[in-house]
Amino acid sequence: MKKCMLLILFLAVTLPALLTAAEPLALMPVPEKMTMAEGQYRLDASFTVAVNGQADPRLYAAVTRMLRRLSGRTGLFMTQDVITPGKTIENPAMLISCQRAGVVALGEDESYELTVSPAGIELRCVTDIGGLRGLETLLQLLQADEKGFYFPALSIQDKPRFPWRGLMIDVCRHWMPMKVIKRNLDGMAAVKMNVLHLHLSEDQGFRIESKLYPKLHQMGSDGFYFTQTEIKTIIAYANARGIRVIPEFDMPGHTTSWFVGHPELASAPGPYTIERRWGVMDPTMDPTRESTYQLLDGFLGEMAALFPDPYLHIGGDENNGKQWNANPAIQAWMKKKGIKDNHALQAYFNSRLLKILTKHGKRMIGWDEILHPSMPKDIVIHSWRGPDSLVQAARRGYMGILSNGYYIDLIQPASYHYLVDPVRADAQLTPEEQARILGGEATSWAELVTPETIDSRIWPRTAVIAERLWSPVSVRDVDDMYRRMEVISRQLEELDLNHIKNYEMMLRRLANQQETTALRVLADVVEPLKIYKRHSQGVTYYSYSPYTRVVDAARPESMTARSFARKVEAFLESRSGQEGGEIMNQLALWQENHARLLQTMAKAPAIREMESLSQDLADLAAAGLQAAEAIQEGRKLGSDWGALQKEHIERAKKPRGQTELVVVDPIARLIQAAQ
Ligand code: ACM
Repeated sequence: MKKCMLLILFLAVTLPALLTAAEPLALMPVPEKMTMAEGQYRLDASFTVAVNGQADPRLYAAVTRMLRRLSGRTGLFMTQDVITPGKTIENPAMLISCQRAGVVALGEDESYELTVSPAGIELRCVTDIGGLRGLETLLQLLQADEKGFYFPALSIQDKPRFPWRGLMIDVCRHWMPMKVIKRNLDGMAAVKMNVLHLHLSEDQGFRIESKLYPKLHQMGSDGFYFTQTEIKTIIAYANARGIRVIPEFDMPGHTTSWFVGHPELASAPGPYTIERRWGVMDPTMDPTRESTYQLLDGFLGEMAALFPDPYLHIGGDENNGKQWNANPAIQAWMKKKGIKDNHALQAYFNSRLLKILTKHGKRMIGWDEILHPSMPKDIVIHSWRGPDSLVQAARRGYMGILSNGYYIDLIQPASYHYLVDPVRADAQLTPEEQARILGGEATSWAELVTPETIDSRIWPRTAVIAERLWSPVSVRDVDDMYRRMEVISRQLEELDLNHIKNYEMMLRRLANQQETTALRVLADVVEPLKIYKRHSQGVTYYSYSPYTRVVDAARPESMTARSFARKVEAFLESRSGQEGGEIMNQLALWQENHARLLQTMAKAPAIREMESLSQDLADLAAAGLQAAEAIQEGRKLGSDWGALQKEHIERAKKPRGQTELVVVDPIARLIQAAQ
């Protein structure tokens, strides 16, 4: 049978089914177990929810928020207002049964069971925190058809694979005010994350009020810090969403901002000023003076009382040791004590910190560098330097969490992060060792982000890390992940996250308030340079530099480019007219875009740095168009033509404005195939 006959037969059989089938579901994270059933629960304004059992008030507030989100999405004027423990609801459409109030702490039960049938919805949970996770699943299940909104009938039994599923937000390199934290907590809750790690002190800023040592925040923050009242608000907001808050005070390096008000803590004489550059800096605490520990005892005692979680992060990363090496008093002290090198000196410092934390009822977590045989086994190693250190730590009896592979500030694609597993498949850990791997954290380092752009660097990619940490290890289908990520990304905007909508706003400003279509066509197919390459392109970034250029508006991962690359692959396989047509339309748009963008540029100086890249896209698209036409018609363009295009390809690969054009490879594939 001919290929096209087969296709017609296939369509005849499957098309009716496809047309009537419901939309494929877009849950993220994918639940542990899910069974579809017949029918739907149809949502209307009479929808009500009741809560049975012993839930924390947290659950009632979460149900109210869910109702408002449902109402907001559907436009239905729902009759139920604010859900409180006292009110009884007759014949609720949804019944939540909760056994006990949960505790927002490591290892708490977050399981839930959700059943949707045409007659109603049931959510059962051990703790109300499991209930919160189930409510987010229900919100992701909402579908619509010609008859209105509905939830598909199904049953879900779900629980997390790892107990520590975090997002670290650096509020120091660029200050991130309360509203950034709150909306990101909402985003985290939507994808069932349960740890907010706040990186609160750095060379560039000391971002929390200390009542005992007010010079820390007064002199180290430019006035941008969280008051203790605000911290309590953040903790309460997180608690209401089943999220722990872990503070990090990075020591002994990354501490310049402490020394502005307290130069006596440093290993070299001051004065110090708040750091405005990025990188690993020299200022380091002096671990040989008792006065250092006196201040840390007071300060950490104050912080221990403020943050309820048992864990406190002491950083410990990237101490370059230069100030220690250069200080004769420190060198003499080390000699006297028999401390042989800087690693051992830092281990001594950490052992003193451990005593202080223990006294204040806290457990220590720190970056890789704190791992030392002298440390007790109840500390947590936070792995950032490589996949091995977590395995090593687990073998040596330490608990650990993974961030290596989840550095979202490196601007890598979602597919990369998605396939990084905290438990390496080849690690051959015993079940006991595996259990020491508690999970992971996405890290939002803030050198290159501002409150305006941070959401677009966190979301939606962090949602796929959340899935890696929650869903069964077998959930690894990258194409399906992208399909669901796109849906979830749009839903996240209902939580005030602005990762999609700020794009247009930034393009409008870049276009100097002119029409943005041509600029968007270009910005849609560039990505910021990855893996910190942005710092080595002849531009020096400071904390006060503009983060408003095309590179900042551009998304970490171009879905236009991904979709185009897939169409090219399919076209080269099938040589089909439809894919060929779509590819050619796209190439023609890129080819013609340059002339339009030049008109915009005439009155938009801020985008002129992209002129040559736009020209290169047009040239490459023209060659790609010739290639696609030739392929479609079964012609060959020859190697001389191919050699000529090579130059276009090489030119187009060069970064401009710290961005790179990310459709070069698929166009080069077309050019190659046409020779
Ligand atoms: C780190 O990225 N220096 C923890």
